[in-house]
Amino acid sequence: MLELLTPPPVDPLWDLAAAYAADPRPERLNLVLGVYRDAEGTTPVMAAVREAEARLAERSASKEYRGLSGNLAFNRAMLATVLGTPGLTGRAAAVQTVAGTGALRLLADLICRTRPGTTVWISDPAYVNHRPIMEAAGLTVRTYGWADPAGRFDEEALLRDLADAGRGDVVLLQGCCHNPTGVDPTPRAWDALAALAERDGWVPLVDLAYHGLGDGLEADLAPTRMLARRLPEMLIAVSCSKNFGLYSDRTGCAIVLGSSTRALGHAETALQNAARTLYSMPPEHGAAVVTTVLEDAALRRTWRAELDAMRARVTDNRAELAALLASLGHGEQAGTVALQKGMFSMLPLTAPQMTRLRTEFAVYGTDAGRINIAGLPGHRVPYLAHAVGAVLGG
Ligand SMILES: Cc1ncc(COP(=O)(O)O)c(C=O)c1O
Repeated sequence: MLELLTPPPVDPLWDLAAAYAADPRPERLNLVLGVYRDAEGTTPVMAAVREAEARLAERSASKEYRGLSGNLAFNRAMLATVLGTPGLTGRAAAVQTVAGTGALRLLADLICRTRPGTTVWISDPAYVNHRPIMEAAGLTVRTYGWADPAGRFDEEALLRDLADAGRGDVVLLQGCCHNPTGVDPTPRAWDALAALAERDGWVPLVDLAYHGLGDGLEADLAPTRMLARRLPEMLIAVSCSKNFGLYSDRTGCAIVLGSSTRALGHAETALQNAARTLYSMPPEHGAAVVTTVLEDAALRRTWRAELDAMRARVTDNRAELAALLASLGHGEQAGTVALQKGMFSMLPLTAPQMTRLRTEFAVYGTDAGRINIAGLPGHRVPYLAHAVGAVLGG
């Protein structure tokens, strides 16, 4: 049977990560995957997470099966954190998932169970896994514009392309810190998006993977909450990978907002059914950690302070990179980088220039120009700026 397999495509990001791992040059820089690293270059376990883990170890709760919706206290805590007010949490249901990816896949399955072949609109460019996840669930993918050739947010292209989205379609939007471009809609553009959804009847699916790492937790969640207030139905995929540093604990949830208890109940059961055939139920540990942090006022404060510190480091890295690029005579490119937010920056470099960065300077980003600015130790920013400057200059 296996002999029948033709060579399957390799994941481009993990392929680059493997090339980095095999690179012997001591100056190498791994900026491929979206992982936060501190000044020393390590991905720390947050202090709030460590404390929650110590408390959980002390308690040593039973490892009996949980239900198909996972950890119910976690789901309640996530609803409160993401939506903020009882007016919204009262219209919502949540199911714990295997991180943000699991949430996207379960929601895609829910859409497909509701209406097979539904069209889902994703941005161009998009997070590398959006199209594969949606297509694997059986949905039809179309794209809308997001950034102009200079890398700035392109409101006109977005609204022009989405004018073709209609009732029954789903529009996948990243709630903040757009991956890979690092540029987000202005408040005016978010408002225009809500008006378009109200008028044309499409349903937003908001992907939240980086909240807290752009302008701060509440500010980053504001567009999602605004959409939830204005629209009768909405889907949200939430990841705790980045803002709790729980990457390998695979922690997240799928949220559904609807206008009737009956529809919400059906949606929750459909999500449970989808989970049942994929992995039955999600892993408990990360959800228990997040719940412990969010339910304890002091731990929650510690987590928020750590998240703010992570965000500040990412912002400082970006500002320094932009300033150095400007000082090297690349003012226009520096201006684009300075406007970006979140863990990623899109360097205004072509695929051959990104290859030069890898071969000549051992700097690993994606061919599209995306670098994980949050993975850059502070003292290596000048090296990166020098490498980018050299590639731009010649
Ligand atoms: C935009 C976006 N959505 C979702 C995810 C999925 O994250 P995870 O499954 O690790 O929680 C990522 C991860 O990089 C992402 O960038």
